[in-house]
Amino acid sequence: MFGLIPLLFTALASAYPNRGPCTGDCWAHDPAMIQRVSDGKYYRFSTGTGVSIHSSPSVKGPWTDLGSALPDGSKITLDGVDSKNIWAPDVHYQNDQYYMYYVLSQIGTQNSQIGVATSKTMDPGSWTDHGSVGLPANDNYNRIDPAWISIGGKNYMNFGSFWGDIFQVQMDTPLQVGGATPYQISWNATLNHREEGSYEFKHGDYYYLLYSAGIAGKYTKTFPAEGAEYHIRVCRSKTGLGDFVDADGKSCKETGGTMLLASHGQVFGPGGPGVVNDKDLGVVMYYHYYPLATKQSTDVSDNANYRYAWNVLGWKDGWPFVKAT
Ligand SMILES: *[C@@H]1O[C@H](CO)[C@@H](O)[C@H](O)[C@H]1NC(C)=O
Repeated sequence: MFGLIPLLFTALASAYPNRGPCTGDCWAHDPAMIQRVSDGKYYRFSTGTGVSIHSSPSVKGPWTDLGSALPDGSKITLDGVDSKNIWAPDVHYQNDQYYMYYVLSQIGTQNSQIGVATSKTMDPGSWTDHGSVGLPANDNYNRIDPAWISIGGKNYMNFGSFWGDIFQVQMDTPLQVGGATPYQISWNATLNHREEGSYEFKHGDYYYLLYSAGIAGKYTKTFPAEGAEYHIRVCRSKTGLGDFVDADGKSCKETGGTMLLASHGQVFGPGGPGVVNDKDLGVVMYYHYYPLATKQSTDVSDNANYRYAWNVLGWKDGWPFVKAT
């Protein structure tokens, strides 16, 4: 009978390994991470005044707060929106410089715009704002949460939140969308169509689409109900251009999407994922979460309470899983 006890403990253990360690400034919200080409330093960008920049010699830290990318705000003007209140950055390297896509939006509305800035170093003071990428407004999507990917030498931007969930559009140049028509690549048909914060990357023979599903924020004692909060799902595609399916073969445009990471331990509402290839760790997924103890002790959900986390991804049958570090 005592032999049952270890089994019970095993059964009660979390389905997910704990997040990797972080030292220094571990605040992040909607993080975007990239290694600087010149010196291999990691840069982390977050939703915050003018876009917050942190840097570190490794994904583990120690992370240092460097300041803002666009301290004077974006040149985009949007009714009722402070141009310094910039969300959901996405940064990539191309043509000897860094491109940062970003968002201005009035929360919960389609009054949103995606902008772009460039820099040679990513440091505060080095960013040039180019304003809007020229993505046309449409009732079917919300112009937030941009995520760039290169496919077959062409630039694409994935974006979107709620309404029609995740869309993709080909870009004429990394600065401008041009005339291409955006199309839907992922959609949950049920209830509130809660998918956003997507990120696409190539690994082996497939393109993988990560996104956040569920309720973002409002993380207080009483809301949201357990399981309804943010979690990270994954779909994959051979072309990267919209034929995404989940691990059961279900189309991700028809409510498909395989669970990759949900709340566990102190990691409540993991979301806003992205991926870096680390030379020592391999494929690392980074994301933000809200500490469970903070949620349980507060009536006010605060942007300052979000935290940065990461895990190494393992692979099985062409699908990623979160691996113990
Ligand atoms: C779709 O949304 C419903 C309702 O929010 C949720 O229960 C379900 O898990 C979602 N499915 C996927 C694949 O995200």
